[in-house]
Amino acid sequence: MKANAIAVMASGRGTNLKVILDAVKAGTCPVDVRLVISDKAEAPALAIATEAGVPAVVHLDPKAYADRAHFDAACADLIDGHDCRWIVLAGYMRILSAEFVRRFRGRIVNIHPSLLPAFPGAHAVEEALRHGVRISGCTVHLVDEVLDGGPILAQAAVPVLDGDSRESLHARIQVEEHELYPATLSRMVSEGFRIDGRRVVWGRS
Ligand code: GRF
Repeated sequence: MKANAIAVMASGRGTNLKVILDAVKAGTCPVDVRLVISDKAEAPALAIATEAGVPAVVHLDPKAYADRAHFDAACADLIDGHDCRWIVLAGYMRILSAEFVRRFRGRIVNIHPSLLPAFPGAHAVEEALRHGVRISGCTVHLVDEVLDGGPILAQAAVPVLDGDSRESLHARIQVEEHELYPATLSRMVSEGFRIDGRRVVWGRS
């Protein structure tokens, strides 16, 4: 298995997938995107992947499977079938089963639109606004059994401005996401890391 082979799972617009693929093309992110999986047939992420020439672009319909475990097992088999070392979640809107997380422990990465551990879950941007924080941002983290709770690989902060809406704050956060995700994936495959308790220690020491 190549150390830089990745599968991307995406449910939505796919802007993070796009910047990763653009960075690969530009030679600034040394990952090999072998597979893109979406649980949504209409996800623009699928077209973005096809356009960029990703060798395997797959829609799997959760409704075609008996339950979450079976659906996740089908995704896992595809990932192993394409020899992917890393699973990169880019706006993937399904919670992963414990079996999936165990099977790929330490190899699943997510990006979340808040400064974790503040505001985990699907409504991070609204909750940050409602709470009245003056600084928010995004977090790239490893995925474990706790929702948005795994060790933190990287974070970037943005100000929350008076008059921000969910859309304006999310747009400001996404500008940072689009820098941070490719840069963190690049660091991950070139530098490596180990986990010390909850902390990520960069380098192959
Ligand atoms: C991002 O804001 C990410 O933090 C969250 O879902 C959004 C995905 O955006 N997990 P996109 O589909 O990559 O544009």
